[in-house]
Amino acid sequence: MPQMPAVNPVRVPVITPGGSYDIVIGRGLLDDVVRYAGLAPHTRRVVVIASGVPAKLYAPRVVDALSAAGLHVRLVEVPDGEQAKNLTTVAGLYEEFADFELGRDDAVFAVGGGVTGDMAGFAAASWHRGVAVVQVPTTLLAQVDSAVGGKTGVNLPSGKNLVGAFHQPRSVVVDLDTLSTLEERDRRAGLGEVAKYGFIADPVVLSLLEESPDDAVAAAPGVIDELVVRSLRCKAGVVSADEKEAGERALLNYGHTVGHAVEAAGGYARYRHGEAVALGMVFAARLSVAVGEAEPSLVDRTVALLAGLGLPTGGLEATTAELWSYLRRDKKARDGVRFVVCSKPGAARLVDQPSADLIDELLDSLR
Ligand SMILES: NC(=O)c1ccc[n+]([C@@H]2O[C@H](COP(=O)([O-])OP(=O)(O)OC[C@H]3O[C@@H](n4cnc5c(N)ncnc54)[C@H](O)[C@@H]3O)[C@@H](O)[C@H]2O)c1
Ligand SMILES: [Zn+2]
Repeated sequence: MPQMPAVNPVRVPVITPGGSYDIVIGRGLLDDVVRYAGLAPHTRRVVVIASGVPAKLYAPRVVDALSAAGLHVRLVEVPDGEQAKNLTTVAGLYEEFADFELGRDDAVFAVGGGVTGDMAGFAAASWHRGVAVVQVPTTLLAQVDSAVGGKTGVNLPSGKNLVGAFHQPRSVVVDLDTLSTLEERDRRAGLGEVAKYGFIADPVVLSLLEESPDDAVAAAPGVIDELVVRSLRCKAGVVSADEKEAGERALLNYGHTVGHAVEAAGGYARYRHGEAVALGMVFAARLSVAVGEAEPSLVDRTVALLAGLGLPTGGLEATTAELWSYLRRDKKARDGVRFVVCSKPGAARLVDQPSADLIDELLDSLR
């Protein structure tokens, strides 16, 4: 994919009680990261955390930019992948921070996917009771979702994301050029999350995905830029209205109640997050129609759109009993299982406890 010359980046503000900042979206931003980082004037030291491909391709550019601005910089490469998102890796980060004498006015940069962002964010949240973190997301999922909103954390052997903290970043720098090196499967999965914003908040996202699915998958300039900006406006708006998920933020879980169960039943190996959410959105569309919330056409539109992106809409191998065991465990399930339904493209709301028989029937339909 050709790299585009840098054009003026787009800024999307996030305003929360826990911190206000800009998401800066553009191309060629890594070499100019200092300008967009919003660092405090007293910042002297910066630890850049990365793994895998981003540690080789992108973190060195961030390190060079920070060094050129006169900051003391240490690059810490951590093991790649979800299995490394744990307290052992975080303990290693604390040792690096201590050795480097990372102080209260200093900062951590997370350069990578959601795993790096969640873990580096958590390490920053807990170091000296909270130092600045700048999120530099390089997967589509991290760019449109995990880097924004301040949720940080790591996994325990007993469950995902069980240890964590809310810690809003100092800024989020989204360089769309980084998507060109991402595996195609990860780009498709990220588009599952993008489609979610279409169903809950912005129908233009749905039309773009329907009109140009191949350009979206290829992360073609123009198409992906508009999709990412629109997704982030939605995420920023929801997070600004409801930082800690008391109300509106729960709508971001559209397709996720069943999506999380599908992911867990597949041992977090069979499906990427966005693929599991695609199945969850097929379930959610059918539920929306079944409870009289949406027109029947929502189901066909959902299936056609997701299939057009190469995302799964059926063929689930998990048993209904297995899925139920994870649905009950979902930490968002307080009194019974709550689901987000779509009323029409671009509008969503929460419903409590549909009948278990209905849920069974709709889970069956995912096979
Ligand atoms: N904090 C939140 O609000 C939130 C929201 C959703 C998901 N998450 C978390 O995000 C994680 C998943 O994130 P993910 O899907 O980004 O996975 P990931 O971070 O594991 O990245 C996937 C793979 O892509 C590689 N990679 C990253 N950028 C690349 C690039 N530009 N080119 C080539 N390879 C690249 C990574 O090194 C990794 O191997 C999960 O742990 C999930 O819990 C958090
Ligand atoms: Zn998600």
